[in-house]
This record gives sequence, C-alpha cells and structure tokens, in this order.
Amino acid sequence: MQKKIDEIEKSIDEAVKDVQSSKTLQEIKMRFLGKTGEISALMKNMRDIPPEERPSMGKILNALRQWTEEKFSALEQKLKEFELKRKYAEEKIDVTLPGKSTENGAYHPNTLIKNELISVFSGMGFEVFEGPEIENDYYNFTALNTPSDHPARDMQDTFYLSNDLLLRTQTSAGQIRVMENKKPPIKILSPGKVYRSDDDATHSPMFSQMEGLVVDKGITLCDLKGMLDEFARKIFGDNVKTRLRPSYFPFTEPSVEVDVSCFECGGKGCRLCKGTGWIEVLGAGMVNRHVLAGCGVDPDIYSGFAFGMGIERIAMLKYGINNMKLLFEGDVRFLKQFKG
Ligand code: PHE
Repeated sequence: MQKKIDEIEKSIDEAVKDVQSSKTLQEIKMRFLGKTGEISALMKNMRDIPPEERPSMGKILNALRQWTEEKFSALEQKLKEFELKRKYAEEKIDVTLPGKSTENGAYHPNTLIKNELISVFSGMGFEVFEGPEIENDYYNFTALNTPSDHPARDMQDTFYLSNDLLLRTQTSAGQIRVMENKKPPIKILSPGKVYRSDDDATHSPMFSQMEGLVVDKGITLCDLKGMLDEFARKIFGDNVKTRLRPSYFPFTEPSVEVDVSCFECGGKGCRLCKGTGWIEVLGAGMVNRHVLAGCGVDPDIYSGFAFGMGIERIAMLKYGINNMKLLFEGDVRFLKQFKG
C-alpha cells in the first residue's frame, strides 16, 4: 500500500510540474481527488482491508488526501496570482498617450448664413417654403409679370432645358406657387439654389437666394422698411441702418434696391463700401398688382411686399470673402476657418 501511495505522490508531482493554467490544474486535481479519481479509488478499497488494519490505513490515506489537497490549493493560489498579473500586463494602457481623435466637420459659410437668416426671419413669424429648382417659364417669368417679349428677361441669362422648362433664375418663382395655394395672410421665406449663365469673382452660374414674401391687408412699403431695419441689425450689427433706392423689377411696383450702412467703417467710407458708406444687399418692392391678380389675390383688398437676396453675397460681405469661387471649391483650409 505504501508503495501505491508513493507512486501516487510521484505521479502528482510529475503531473503538476509544468502546469501553466488553473484550468489544467483543475483537470489534474479531478484525476486524483475527483469522485472517480485515484485517491478516491484507494479509499473505496478500504472495504477489502482487514478491519484491524483499517484505522491505521485510514490515517495514512487521509494524510495523503490532505497532502494532495494542500498541494493543489497552494498551486492554485500561485497560478491565480500569475494569471491575474498576466491579465493586468495584457490590458495595460498608457494614459499619457495622446487620444485618438476624429476631427469634427463644420457648417459651410452658406449654410451658416442661410440658418442665421431663417432664424432671424422665423423670429418675425416667417415660415419656410422651398420651391423646385427646375421651373417652367410661367412660374419663373410670365406669372412674375415678365412675358416672353418683356425686355426684363434679358436681366437674367437663363439656362433653358427645353422650350418651357428652365433652371430657375430666381427664388421669386416660389412666390407664385405660394400665392396660388394659400390665401393671405402670407408670410413666407424661400431659400434655394438658382442658376444664371454668369461667371466671375462675384458671380457664379449656381448660387443661392433667400426670398421673402408678405401679403395681407394694408401692407405698405413702411412695413418692408421696418422689417429690413430689423434684419440689418440682426445680421450686420446694432448700428447698421438701411436705405431704399428706386429700382426696377417687373414683379414689384415700386421696386427698390436696399443698401445697408457700411458695418466696416460705420458709414465714413472704406474699401468694403468703395468709399460710399453704403453696401447694396438686396432687391425688394411692393408686389405688382398684376402678379397678385394673376394668382387670384384681389389687389384692391390685399397688398404685399417681396424681397430677394443672394446668400453668397451676404456671406462674402459678412465674412470678408473676396472671391465667390472659394465658396464652391470645398477647400478644407478655407472651410476650417468657419468652425464654430
Ligand atoms: N428676384 C430678384 C432677383 O433675383 C430679387 C427680388 C426679389 C426683387 C423680390 C424684388 C422682390 O434679382
């Protein structure tokens, strides 16, 4: 029996010699101490031993069992510590390393201005309406009091898609769509892209406009002026004033060009305002009676004003951009400067 015990002790020593993980250790442990393990088998054999030898034999076997258990638990402890250390080493992070960052994008200056305009005008009760970019001749010209033989058609170099279809040259086309579909009071803002065959430092074949239209009983040019003053103060600064100059648009009567006092020099005259103290920002006027009537709005009851401005132009003025192309090239070095 002692020989058997020695053998078991030896094979335990042998088995645990190179153990690397607590999982294999557990398997080895079962081989000896498990229900069907070698030590348990010896215990079971006690039945075959003469009764007088049983107590001393029992002692020996218990001692073996204890020795084995202690050995395993010591080893287990060691392996657990080792495994924990290895885990810590693997998961170690250097908190002093610079973080991985992804760069945030920024709004395009056109979008910034568009959003700013929408926020200023919606504060005054305007709702946004967006018309189609491909228009027909009627909405873009005829309904705006510009029939095909009208000389004002030459004011805008139009991209025609067919005899009747064209790329809209002005967001004013949307005014007609709104008036046809809605009874006054009307107070809408219509941003969008427009197209004209025009190309230099301050003109691009595609650019954006922001149109405004107000129709109700008793609307006058004074309402337009008051609203423009508010717009100029909010967009260009508190001390900025507006000035109306007579102009001509077929769909408004009277028509005006609107100037704002130069926000750069305060009106004294500088390079931005070309020494005049004023900067032209938009076209506007009282909606022509013919236009109202054509849309089924009685011009003897209702009147209205409209205005239209170039979004790029406002962006160029406000941010001091001297070439419109910068707004379309998508150069990140330029765009990065508008990060909020
Ligand atoms: N549609 C005109 C343009 O593009 C601007 C304008 C709009 C003028 C509304 C008067 C009223 O030049």
